[in-house]
Amino acid sequence: MLRRWALVGWAAAALAAASALTLAAPGAGDDPEPGIRALIRFTARLSLGLFLVVFAASSWQKLAPSRPSRWAVQNRRHLGLAMALSQLVHAMAILMLANLDPARFRRGLGLGTVGGLTTYLLMMLMVVTSFDGPTRWLGRKRWRILHSAGMYMLALTFLDPYGVRTARGVGLAVLPTVLLLGVRALRLAARRGRAKVIARSS
Ligand code: HEM
Repeated sequence: MLRRWALVGWAAAALAAASALTLAAPGAGDDPEPGIRALIRFTARLSLGLFLVVFAASSWQKLAPSRPSRWAVQNRRHLGLAMALSQLVHAMAILMLANLDPARFRRGLGLGTVGGLTTYLLMMLMVVTSFDGPTRWLGRKRWRILHSAGMYMLALTFLDPYGVRTARGVGLAVLPTVLLLGVRALRLAARRGRAKVIARSS
């Protein structure tokens, strides 16, 4: 199974291939917008898949330990870095889209953009503090607060478009919505289990 930096390498290769395929597709020279939008969706979905594994890893290992759950825990830092890379391409594709028609893009900005930018800021801080030196400098407690806030902000940023579409009855959006809420339920179940163990031992 792929591990650590090999995971990041494969994610980088998939992102490079997707970027080349969507941006150099026939007709992309005349109208690049569909290709850029496809790249935005691809990077959002790749990021979501990686995020779900990272978000679920420790609770999954606690509640149903297995080889895949151990793999997820051991590789979650690199899976997170691969997700950040995918989000970097998401941001680059958004800038390309904005550049096609800046006035139209500005009109489409709203509260969701503030949420997206906050998530990007937290994600950058999480990436920097994924390495030993900055982690030591930050301290264990602050590291936990930052990474926990970042993970929940990421979950909300993913839930926003899919939750809205699910509420409007857009069929396929229900799958990511259920997966995101399912992982949240898994984390709650793992936390309840741990609270019971602490109560029993005290
Ligand atoms: C200010 C920052 C952001 C902007 C302006 C932005 C913009 C967009 C746009 C324009 C789309 C629609 C593409 C299309 O269908 O044509 C999109 C889709 C999406 N974005 Fe972002 N985004 C931002 C940040 C983020 C972040 C931080 C995340 C998650 C961590 C995210 C997750 C998504 C998801 C889940 C979709 C839906 C993809 C699908 O259709 O399956 N976005 N974004």
